Amino acid sequence: MNIVTRQPLESAAAVEEDELWFKDAIIYQLHVKTFADSNNDGIGDFAGLTEKLDYLSDLGVTTLWLLPFYPSPGRDDGYDISDYRLVNPDFGAMKDFRRFMQEAKRRKLRVVIELVINHTSDRHPWFERARRSKPGSDARSWYVWSDNDQKYAGTRIIFSDTEKSNWTWDPVAEAYYWHRFFAHQPDLNYDNPRVTAALLSVMRFWLDLGVDGFRLDAIPYLCEREGTSNENLPETHAVIKKIRAELDAYSPGKVLLAEANQWPEDVAVYFGRGDECHMAYHFPLMPRIYMAIAQEDRFPITDILRQTPDIPDNCQWAMFLRNHDELTLEMVTDAERDYLWSAYATDPRARLNLGIRRRLAPLMDNDRRKIELMNSLLMSFPGTPIIYYGDEIGMGDNIYLGDRNGVRTPMQWTPDRNGGFSRCDPARLYAPTIMDPVYGYEAVNVEAQSRSLASLLSWTKRLISVRKSSRVFGRGSLSFIRATNRAVLVYVRQYGDEVMLCVANLSRSAQAAEIDLSPWRGRVPLELLGRTNFPPIGEQPAVITLAPYGFYWFQLCETVASPPIQASLPEYETLVVGHGWRSLLQGRSRSVLERDVVPVYLSGRRWFAERGNSAITCRVADDFAVDTAADSGIVLVEARSKRESAQYLLPLSIKWTRLDSAKPDPNALAGVRRGARQGILVDGAGDPPFIAFLLQRVRASETIAVDRHRLEFRATEAFPAETPIAVEHVRAVETEQSNTTALVGSAFVVKFFRRLESGSNPEIEVGRFLTTIVQFPNTPPLLGAVEFVDGDTRRAVAVVHRFVENQGDAWTVTSAYLDRFVEEQRLLTAEAAEHSDEEAAYARLMDQVGRRVAELQLALASRDDIAAFAPEAITSDDIRGWREASSSAPTRPSMSSCAAGRA
Ligand code: GLC
Ligand code: CA
Repeated sequence: MNIVTRQPLESAAAVEEDELWFKDAIIYQLHVKTFADSNNDGIGDFAGLTEKLDYLSDLGVTTLWLLPFYPSPGRDDGYDISDYRLVNPDFGAMKDFRRFMQEAKRRKLRVVIELVINHTSDRHPWFERARRSKPGSDARSWYVWSDNDQKYAGTRIIFSDTEKSNWTWDPVAEAYYWHRFFAHQPDLNYDNPRVTAALLSVMRFWLDLGVDGFRLDAIPYLCEREGTSNENLPETHAVIKKIRAELDAYSPGKVLLAEANQWPEDVAVYFGRGDECHMAYHFPLMPRIYMAIAQEDRFPITDILRQTPDIPDNCQWAMFLRNHDELTLEMVTDAERDYLWSAYATDPRARLNLGIRRRLAPLMDNDRRKIELMNSLLMSFPGTPIIYYGDEIGMGDNIYLGDRNGVRTPMQWTPDRNGGFSRCDPARLYAPTIMDPVYGYEAVNVEAQSRSLASLLSWTKRLISVRKSSRVFGRGSLSFIRATNRAVLVYVRQYGDEVMLCVANLSRSAQAAEIDLSPWRGRVPLELLGRTNFPPIGEQPAVITLAPYGFYWFQLCETVASPPIQASLPEYETLVVGHGWRSLLQGRSRSVLERDVVPVYLSGRRWFAERGNSAITCRVADDFAVDTAADSGIVLVEARSKRESAQYLLPLSIKWTRLDSAKPDPNALAGVRRGARQGILVDGAGDPPFIAFLLQRVRASETIAVDRHRLEFRATEAFPAETPIAVEHVRAVETEQSNTTALVGSAFVVKFFRRLESGSNPEIEVGRFLTTIVQFPNTPPLLGAVEFVDGDTRRAVAVVHRFVENQGDAWTVTSAYLDRFVEEQRLLTAEAAEHSDEEAAYARLMDQVGRRVAELQLALASRDDIAAFAPEAITSDDIRGWREASSSAPTRPSMSSCAAGRA
């Protein structure tokens, strides 16, 4: 079988379970500046964000990741930090941050913040001090200096669009300083232990304020060594290990998230042996998801995931589709980059550095199906998903804003001024809102989408809640199943016994795929977004069809989980009954009844001998109107198949209530219509009015004759003359298979024999004898019977007995007794088991049963003047016959074997 298993991510026994919370997290990434402006100065702030926490917890995300919110000249949107221990006054004061933390905690939202350790702003006091200090001094060596700009040649330039070198001349220091990013962001020098110590102290400062973790910005670049690429150096990993050790010692259960934009094998090193970062972005996977959709081929995804090394049990990949930066194409081959640029950034303005500065929705041409598919992958790949703010409503971007600002525009809350982000003069906004007709805040906003169940926002919420319903997504292993169709991506997530099958169509056209699911034979796929069951997995490969960009998340259930496969609603025929019941049996209605309605109905009945076989021909051989005014009657149906032919009685009533397809009447056979009036044709055996007619006719001992045939309704003396026939409480009894029994209140039991058998019916014959002739008091009295009489033959149609209040039958009592008895014997010591209370009580009951059976025998043998009941002597031949019959007949194992065991 073509299944490749990757990444066993079974939870680590060694680690405290709740310390792995990040594995089940759903992270929402946002910039305080962009989210909500509370004081209308045009800049989002902590107070505004705090007001929006309900929105976030309602969305279902569990963790917030805040972009840098520290004092900063703002030349790299806050990644150029000038003070690590304060809140940027534009976003509020420390007290606003504290309140935000409190409110987040109250909603059980965790908060991850930025620890930007590679560099500071050139306005940071550390840098001001360094550039003014003597070369070689400690203060100077907080940064990386050189006399020339040729050192560390061979190091790539990341912001290639703006920077020409990683060195910049500082006229104050009269030396070059090293920077991997913008020239105003000098790199800190991690060869100086004081730098590490200072950053650890910053980390403790924010831990004290309650944050749950840190995103470690740009960590591959901490240390430099001549002759290397200056990325991922062992010295850098040593620094990260120190940070991790300090974090665990100071505040266990907090996380580090690595931003290391590297090839999979290099990123994986940032997990260390579970002693560096808890999480790392899967940078290589992200662009390949875009690649797979553009090429309509799963290969880029399966290929990169297969190249992804296993990671320690206490670690997790962070999955994302978009973030605040350009969609980076650094970790793809040159050919792949050209392809992605041509597919997603034909407009050169959409390109930035080695990437594409666009949001998810525009990248997907605003195609809802593609956006949903992308999110389904994000939420089901092995890792913790990160949603970039605004993508849950399909926000657009503005590629004219320069740098990456086009994907950092104000959150769109309402169709009001500034999209509800701020009430300031629009000119004052930190950045213009998106205003075009497709993505502008009038078209795309939270308020409108909250009101529509069909919106992207509502859909995202649903997806999140399904994702959260199972730990398999966050913790399970991943295997691919290679369906022959490469446009279809099939993978299985497994955690313990739970198995999730994900199937995605990466193409713009409908696709089918044959999927080998033999390891899960017998399981039932439950599609989780709609909660519908699919047919159980069999021997043959499953054929799954998908709409364009369609996807399924199937939970492979061992037993059918909650909602069973929707029993298909019957598609009823409508019979036209211009003249009521009579017209059922005339003209076109009759042929539809015989050809389409009755065969389908019979084949679904338990009492029909050839149940399940609707390939029968039916003919209505006889019919008796029981009550023409009320449109009720009984028809005699001849049902023929290849195997046999038999006659059945079908009581039919027309009910003038409309067919409710949501709650179909289980007794319905068809719809009926007279003019504009609609009704249903029901099986009268379960229909109270029909049973009432029948009981009235029995009480009056009436006869309905049609040609040579008669329906004889006969009461016995026991039929209560006065009792009103109340049929409000008619219940069907499901125990017997060959007939239909209805309990009428606590007065009558009406049993319909469905299949007509010739010969006298023992229930009628013996019942009459016991009830009216010998008046035996301990059987339910026979109150009446209905028989079909054709010349000399009589065939039983129905019997009516008095209902006897009871507490169940001997069979149920006996099996319950045996259950208790066996349980008792299992638990008791040998001596104690000798005296069982259970046994004594049961014996008393059996004694009573024996007595009654004997009385019954005596009663039956009491009239030798009636030929059919005259006692006959038992011969030895009789006894032999019985013995043979009983030893060859199957016995009920549970009773006989237990009894034998005790004896
Ligand atoms: C990270 C951030 C990016 C920033 C850079 C320099 O890559 O994601 O926004 O510009 O670091 O700090
Ligand atoms: Ca503000």
